[in-house]
Amino acid sequence: MKNTIKKIAVMTSGGDAPGMNAAIRAVVRTCAFYQIECVGVYRGYQGLIEGDFITLDARKVSNTINRGGTILKSARSKDFRTKEGRAKAYENLLKESIDAMILIGGDGTFTGGMVFNEEYNFPCIGIPGTIDNDIYGTNFTIGYDTALNTAVEVIDKIRDTASSHNRLFFVEVMGRDAGFIALNAGVGSGAEEILIPEEDLGLDRLLESLKRSKRSGKSSSIVVVAEGDKIGKSVFELANYVEENLPQYEVRVSVLGHMQRGGSPSCFDRVLASRLGVKAVELILDGKTNLMVGIINDKIKTTNLEKAVKGKHSINKELLRVSDIMSI
Ligand code: F6P
Repeated sequence: MKNTIKKIAVMTSGGDAPGMNAAIRAVVRTCAFYQIECVGVYRGYQGLIEGDFITLDARKVSNTINRGGTILKSARSKDFRTKEGRAKAYENLLKESIDAMILIGGDGTFTGGMVFNEEYNFPCIGIPGTIDNDIYGTNFTIGYDTALNTAVEVIDKIRDTASSHNRLFFVEVMGRDAGFIALNAGVGSGAEEILIPEEDLGLDRLLESLKRSKRSGKSSSIVVVAEGDKIGKSVFELANYVEENLPQYEVRVSVLGHMQRGGSPSCFDRVLASRLGVKAVELILDGKTNLMVGIINDKIKTTNLEKAVKGKHSINKELLRVSDIMSI
């Protein structure tokens, strides 16, 4: 390994995700292992612009592997979208003698890294951390597995009420543009229907399917809806529409929201974060830049940041078929 790198900065940016702390810990400890300095940047790009740094060593990240959220805090910085903001960020990096950055986040975070790399040729490596799992170049993003399990746990509880009161529940899960959480949590919780942005079921087919399930003797049902699904203007409007057209159903809506982003990360997310964190530092030490580190078929792989942002991570449509068969 070439070692012209002496100091690496790490930040979390965009929506927080369980396992981000495990990734920070892995980056910090890998830096310590290779005897290079590590600096944490608070509040993502905003902290970079404001020079909000903290020196991190192996002991500073003790007892963080199990913690949800991010000890470095996170933000969606508007200032970094401006040339002036990025110039200020670059100035701060030079002032702190930082040689490279590791960015933990989703597509917005990586877009920032790409632009910055283009403008200042500053070495950046991305680690995918978002509950949405919507990043190309990795089978799994950090936080997705935990969010999925949180969603299933909650839907199981909702099922108790649905079944006790013979109700139809529409449960909205997160996923601004992607149906990964909805599809997998839907199959995992035995949902009657799963509505995702990648596949337009259509209102008529939804009504038909619900009628069919009533006729087949089901007394309660759960429909899992991805936040980004376009079938109704909102999950509440969708529920009203169904109640108006199928008066035989008593309908309720439950929006799971940010509870899916919190909590202690699953073992899967902790291990993933640890592996990706180690590799991210090693890539920098090898002189690599502008890459995202991901996992494909259990092997650590790298993808160009631009491809990670622009590429499409497709859902597994086979799961829709499984769901259809299961909801007979
Ligand atoms: O990208 C992760 C995510 O949780 C999306 O699923 C959701 O649409 C969005 O963040 C919500 O963002 P915020 O917390 O800024 O409202």
